[in-house]
Amino acid sequence: MNKYKVLFVAAAMSVGVAAQPVTAKLSVDVAKIVSTVSPMLYGLMTEEINHSYDGGLYAEMIENRTFHSEWNGQPPWDLVRHGEAVAQKSLDRSTGPSETFAYSMKLTVSAASVGNEAGLTNPGYWGYGVRPNTTYSGSLYARVDNSDTGPITIRLINNASGVVVAQTWIALQAGPWTRYEYKLVTGAVAPSIANHLEFTVAHPGTLWLQFVSLMAPTFHKRPNGNRVDLMERMAAMHPKFLRLPGGNYLEGVTVEDRFDWKKTIGPLIDRPGHLGPWGYRSTDGLGLLEFLEWCEDLRVEPVLAIYAGYSLAGTHVATGNDVEPYVQSALDEIEYVTGDTSTKWGAERARDGHLAPFPLHYIEIGNEDYLDKSGSYPARYAQFAEALHKRYPQYKLIATDGNSEYETKVHTDVSEEHYYKSPNDMMDLVNHYDHASRSGPKIFVGEWATRSGSPTPNFGDALGDAAWMTAMERNSGLIIMASYAPLLVNVSPGAMQWPTDLIGLDAGSTYASPSYWAQCLFAAHLGDATVASSINGENKHFFYSATVSAREKVLHLKLVNASSNDQALVLELAGVHGGHTAKMISLHGATFEATNSMRDPNAIHPVQSRVRVAGGRWVHTVPALSIEVIDLPF
Ligand code: AHR
Repeated sequence: MNKYKVLFVAAAMSVGVAAQPVTAKLSVDVAKIVSTVSPMLYGLMTEEINHSYDGGLYAEMIENRTFHSEWNGQPPWDLVRHGEAVAQKSLDRSTGPSETFAYSMKLTVSAASVGNEAGLTNPGYWGYGVRPNTTYSGSLYARVDNSDTGPITIRLINNASGVVVAQTWIALQAGPWTRYEYKLVTGAVAPSIANHLEFTVAHPGTLWLQFVSLMAPTFHKRPNGNRVDLMERMAAMHPKFLRLPGGNYLEGVTVEDRFDWKKTIGPLIDRPGHLGPWGYRSTDGLGLLEFLEWCEDLRVEPVLAIYAGYSLAGTHVATGNDVEPYVQSALDEIEYVTGDTSTKWGAERARDGHLAPFPLHYIEIGNEDYLDKSGSYPARYAQFAEALHKRYPQYKLIATDGNSEYETKVHTDVSEEHYYKSPNDMMDLVNHYDHASRSGPKIFVGEWATRSGSPTPNFGDALGDAAWMTAMERNSGLIIMASYAPLLVNVSPGAMQWPTDLIGLDAGSTYASPSYWAQCLFAAHLGDATVASSINGENKHFFYSATVSAREKVLHLKLVNASSNDQALVLELAGVHGGHTAKMISLHGATFEATNSMRDPNAIHPVQSRVRVAGGRWVHTVPALSIEVIDLPF
């Protein structure tokens, strides 16, 4: 602000006249390219946290489908006895349908009849998301010693009214363990999540059950796939990659609990699941292949993180012979992802149902290894990097300790960094990369988020995120990839471990946070190069980005006003000629705390309008607490 403007504002305030907005000058020259924008800048990252997968993205609706006795503290299956029925349930460790599930739930029914059924009930992951005219696909393994038990009836029932919203039955054959499939089809029911599932019989007898599953419809009708609504939310973010499988989820609390990819592939009935680092068990129904198919369905590429011998409790595997099996496991994993069917693990992937190799360019070695206070990472990194580089020199390697001096020495192409900040701290960080060295590894901001809202970010967080995205776009010659984290949170009571997650969900719905909308806007309106620009006289918390799509000849302007004063601008747009009516999309919140929620999902949402832009010199005001994205043809 210059001296005269200061005096003017002070004089106006002293006589009680409303303060005039201070005018800043923003100059942009669309003909002067400064640096490239990475074509992979915006991507996705999440992990099994906040019931992101089980009870979230993964379409399985039944909680603890394998009757695991240590299921997240409490097995959710209950005995149900209608009317005069008499029955007992017990975990039977003597029989099951596979070596992994060599145990089962035994139901002993001593009295039952039509109207007096007995069986089991499951509450789902905080309910069952029921929609009208929808088909849900189920399967179960069962064993009966004689067929007198009769059929098993499966009913989806509304918790409050007791009304059966869908039902079917399966005739059980006496004999060995058999897998049965069933469908539940709803009619014109009201959408609801307050439902439970019952499996009952109407005759006395003994029945063993295992791997009892019910899947919601999946994106692209993918078998064993993901929920449609959440995949659509992700697709709308225009992502270019998925960083998988975590996060802390890669490492596990102990080495034993790491993401041991070989235990997450193959037939579901052979996947034991494992204890994740966020306090609950994962079914691993969403295993390595499903992560890759998730990428395929969204047309993004995987950024594959491999376990590098460090787990969260602080244990690490010693380099040399001890870590060698983990190095081999990483090599096998890459072969599973990329190998053709002449390779051992490529053939295994084909047997698992995916003939074609997946695209891969980036491999990350570990996660947050700067937390390994033993100092073992450089040596561990070197052992992994050398083996990976020798076998797969075409892939870029990502290090996670943030030590670029070391990283330049051992095949490090990219350094992965994480930023979780308050709104003010995030805005203070926006110049962090402006003067960073361009001669070392590229940067992958693999986890970042402005955090103050819970369970999902509020508008102040969206402003911090937008400010940070302007910085990443400006520095995208260096920052080649970035992924907000975490992406998903089940907002049901007790489901969340980590507050401030981009998308809220429950058993039936999702809602988008203000930060989600900011990301959709930034990713959908991104050029391939930054152009020369400068600003002066702006409010403290005003930020902008100027990128161009050179071939289409469009300037993408992003204007972020995080202050509580309007920001008047004179835009000097060199190379933008004549008058245009341009598309503008705005996001506005009344306060930093304003937000969206499951109850009020659209309180803050993008609003599209048209603005008349004068090429050369355009006078425009960005309202307080607003994000604007404008596409200007030139
Ligand atoms: O995103 C949540 C966690 O934050 C990740 O698991 C971990 O990498 C980071 O500490």
